[in-house]
Amino acid sequence: MPEAVPTTTQVSTEVGPVIIPDLDSFPPTGTPKHAKLSSWDFYRSIGSPQRIVAPMVDQSELAWRILSRRYGSDLVYTPMINAKLFADESSKKKKVKYQEVNFNREFAEEGAASLSLSDSDGADTDRPLFVQFCANDPATLLRAAQVVEDRCDAVDLNLGCPQHIARRGHYGSFLMEDWELIFRLINILHLELKVPVTAKMRVYESMEKTIAYAKVLERAGAQMITVHGRTRVMKGHHTGLADWEKIERVKREVKVPVIANGNVLYPQDWREALERTGADGVMSAEGNLYNPAIFFEAEGSETMFPSNKGFPSITEMAREYLDIVGKLKTPTQSSAIKAHLFRLCRPALEVHRDLREVLGKSRFDSSATGAERVKSYGEFVEELGRRLEADMKDPKWEAKPEPALPGSVSYLTEAGVGGRPVWVPHWLAQPYFRPPLVTDEEKGAGEKEDRKRRVLESTTAKVGEVEGTVKDEGKTNGGARVRSDSAEREVQEARRVDEKRVRVQ
Ligand SMILES: Cc1cc2nc3c(=O)[nH]c(=O)nc-3n(C[C@H](O)[C@H](O)[C@H](O)COP(=O)(O)O)c2cc1C
Repeated sequence: MPEAVPTTTQVSTEVGPVIIPDLDSFPPTGTPKHAKLSSWDFYRSIGSPQRIVAPMVDQSELAWRILSRRYGSDLVYTPMINAKLFADESSKKKKVKYQEVNFNREFAEEGAASLSLSDSDGADTDRPLFVQFCANDPATLLRAAQVVEDRCDAVDLNLGCPQHIARRGHYGSFLMEDWELIFRLINILHLELKVPVTAKMRVYESMEKTIAYAKVLERAGAQMITVHGRTRVMKGHHTGLADWEKIERVKREVKVPVIANGNVLYPQDWREALERTGADGVMSAEGNLYNPAIFFEAEGSETMFPSNKGFPSITEMAREYLDIVGKLKTPTQSSAIKAHLFRLCRPALEVHRDLREVLGKSRFDSSATGAERVKSYGEFVEELGRRLEADMKDPKWEAKPEPALPGSVSYLTEAGVGGRPVWVPHWLAQPYFRPPLVTDEEKGAGEKEDRKRRVLESTTAKVGEVEGTVKDEGKTNGGARVRSDSAEREVQEARRVDEKRVRVQ
């Protein structure tokens, strides 16, 4: 393969000059070794997927993929797999094999066209499936991809991960400064792999650079491109809104199918994203985790859960997920189960806070078999179910609670826009709205108020006049607005444990 030595163009933006390598300075795409469908024929061959579940570390595992497909998803990605750890497996003596944990081949369930999990039929499937890798070395990426090429429909390159670990490992969005390397990573898979290669990118601040970047991915051989409409710095409390306009422009400028990613939280959102971006499909990550039926639509009716305002029951979803986990031979990581249940049950755990600890202590019992392996998680769900049954009958919960439960208030849409309710009862799976980041100015004011309150409290407490000192919580809770939701913290904790586990393998 000829080396890419790009020449560049400069455009001015509000943040100064942006360097854009010229497309023609990259080598031609080249002809693949194996016969490959054109990008559009490939897209049609997998059913022209429109409702797509994102790659999610520790969360788009086999059991969750099955659940998501049962509720309307047309295509699901695996979690990101580190190509180096995956490809170098055989050379290392490890107790738990990275390959087994990240793409189990022993039980032949991952990537299976047909799976029989219930008594009824073999209706479940793990296809179409895209396996996602992060990488920074073309030969290593190819070796890793060849391990799974017979058990998936495409291999995807992660160009979006913004986490610190990606900066250290030099992958994901930290390749965005090195288009020449990105070209080589995609191109080697295009030329050598049996299945198509696709790419998942973030956008730049500059529209021109975003478009030029997408064109380089296409020229390298990416047969589908997912555009996450956020820049690399948009993460955590700075996540903000994805830019659908940039996705729309990319869609107009490239010839391969484009998938729009970002801002899909309510069941109505994916159709709006399709219309507004003109994309061929829509991908959801968080929206799917908080409501695995986000893409579900019954024939002839607007939503599948009419009596629930279109939202599924938390406990029904949790039971079905655990049932899948219990029936699969492929083990599901306990950290994944826990993180799923914390997210899915988040609104209910705002009310029944004592059950967080019960969930936190639940364990996957690998010495047991079948459903017994998830017994303690099941007990948590049954206890939560009993509490929610009682809540449903309690008139107290017939109207929107005041104050609203944390995380339930939308700052994305105004109340009721396009039939999107801003209040959904806590027993239904629903979108989660991270509290917006408080500005330094607000924080300063909040801290000042906090200090004043503490001084007041300590003086009044001394003289026995506690009552009436701090009535207006709103004035002092700048800190509370920044505080990340504690369910989210539990999830992060579960993820940290898992990261540790993956690192020590
Ligand atoms: C728990 C979690 C894990 C994620 N893991 C990955 C991953 O493995 N690969 C990837 O490309 N993006 C990953 N992402 C990012 C999502 O795929 C998606 O691009 C991002 O969350 C924006 O989509 P959303 O607005 O629908 O959440 C992850 C997101 C979440 C919430």
